[in-house]
Parts: sequence; structure tokens; C-alpha cells
Amino acid sequence: MTTSSTPTSEADLAIATRKKVTVPEVAAMRAEGRRISMITAYDATFAHLVDLAGVDMILVGDSVGTVMQGQPNTIPVELSEMEYHVRLVARAKPRAMVIGDLPFGSYQVSPQQAVESSVRLLKAGAEVVKLEGGVGMADTIAAITRVDIPVMAHIGLTPQSYHRMGGNRVQGRKSGFEAGSRERLIEDAHAVEQAGAFAVVLEGIPLELAGEITHKLSIPTIGIGAGVDCDGQVLVLHDLLGLSDCNYKFAKKFADLRGTVISAAREYIAEVREGVWPDEAHSFH
Ligand code: KIV
Repeated sequence: MTTSSTPTSEADLAIATRKKVTVPEVAAMRAEGRRISMITAYDATFAHLVDLAGVDMILVGDSVGTVMQGQPNTIPVELSEMEYHVRLVARAKPRAMVIGDLPFGSYQVSPQQAVESSVRLLKAGAEVVKLEGGVGMADTIAAITRVDIPVMAHIGLTPQSYHRMGGNRVQGRKSGFEAGSRERLIEDAHAVEQAGAFAVVLEGIPLELAGEITHKLSIPTIGIGAGVDCDGQVLVLHDLLGLSDCNYKFAKKFADLRGTVISAAREYIAEVREGVWPDEAHSFH
């Protein structure tokens, strides 16, 4: 892996000469109808690899709780842990935009707490922050953007609302204005846009509703389990790579790294047990 500023291969050179993805660039992508790609990453190695692949945005998501920490949901994730992972990703110096996710409890108490937490993520290397919530988070989004920290909002299936939703459940299927209902989600979308969010994640909602919201807003929508009509898409790295054994309907496995890792480890274990590893080529004299 190369995370230094000196390119050592053609791929590294290509990445080093590509333009940094910024907030105005993301707005231009939406205006020009260029679809936006986002992948989560939690460390320098994978941030570098997805950046080499050409992704537009890297989300240091609080999904770190479930995919790396073995937590049942994202609620236990701490701000200090997010700072740590943002720092690792930022060290890869990606051309992709680096988004730091505000974890549960780091922004819900007051707009002031949200600004303080956002400052911590920016000092760790994030370029923008993401938070969950719609109408109820409008003042908080306005407070963060007032100090020139760009905010990506996140509505629909918001994993930090795990207990209210009764698990990670598709939202927006029933009509009404209660949290998670169809008309309320449209209100949420307008509220985050008016509060100053530069983009919004739409998670776990019917594709027709995601298309309607995308059509109504002027900021980019980034979908996950929200169909093809969003301006962009995001997937959790471990789902995309097939590292987890979960089979979510919305998450295509673009590789089977779980199988690859298990078979590589099995081969290694067998060679150790047979006494054929390390062989002559991998030994010193
Ligand atoms: O934490 C995360 O990975 C996320 C995505 C699922 C959007 O919020």
C-alpha cells in the first residue's frame, strides 16, 4: 500500500493527478447529472484502495460499530472511536471526499454539542460531517453549517433510531406524518435542505419515494436501499466486498472476500501443519 505523497505506480500517479472531490464539485455532479459513488471505509488501507478505484466519497460511517466492532447496532459507537477511524482514513490522503459520521449521543443533546463534535471530526481529518434525522435536526444542521462545516443529512431508515423503528426496518411505506411515514419523510427531506445540508442520504425507503424526493430537492440524494433514481449510491464496504455473511436485499456482493479469506487462511494453516511453510523462497540464509 502507498499512502505517501510520492506515487509509485501508474494507478497511484493517476490518483495523485485527479482533482480533489469538494462540496462544490458534488453540487456540480448533481447539476450535470453525473452519478455519485460513495463507499464506507474505516482505515488507511481500504481508503487508499477504494480511492484508487475512483470512488467520489468515502464515508467513515458509524457502521464501524456493526462491521468492525461486532456491536449489534450503531448505538454504542463513541465520538473518540469515530475520530480515530477518521484519522486513519484521512492519512490515506484520498482524492475522494472524506465524510465523518457523528455517532449517537454526540449531536442530539444540543446544537452546541453538535458543533463541538463536528469540530473534533474535522480536526481528525473529515471534510464534512454526516448526521441522522430530518425536521428534528434542522436547527442542529443550521448551527453546524453556520460555522462553515458542510453537513450531509441522513433520513429514512436511520440506524441510530434502532429502538424507535423496532430494528432496521424499511421506512416510508405507510402514509402519514409520524416519524418514518411517507409524508413525514418528504418533510424531513425539505427540512434538511432548507437547514443547509449539502446532500442527503436516503436509506431503506421505497424507490418510488426516493425518486420523488430526489426530484423535489435541489441537493444530491445518496441512496442505500432506496433504488436507482437517487443522484448517487452508497454501500458499506464489508457488504460490497462480501466480507459479511449477511444477505441484505439492498446490498449486492461485488466480490466474495469472505470465501477468499477463509480459503487463504485454510491453505496457510494446512501448510504450517504439514511443515511446508515457510519454503526455501521465503527463508533467509
Ligand atoms: O454508517 C454508515 O455506514 C452509514 C451508511 C449506511 C449510509 O450511515
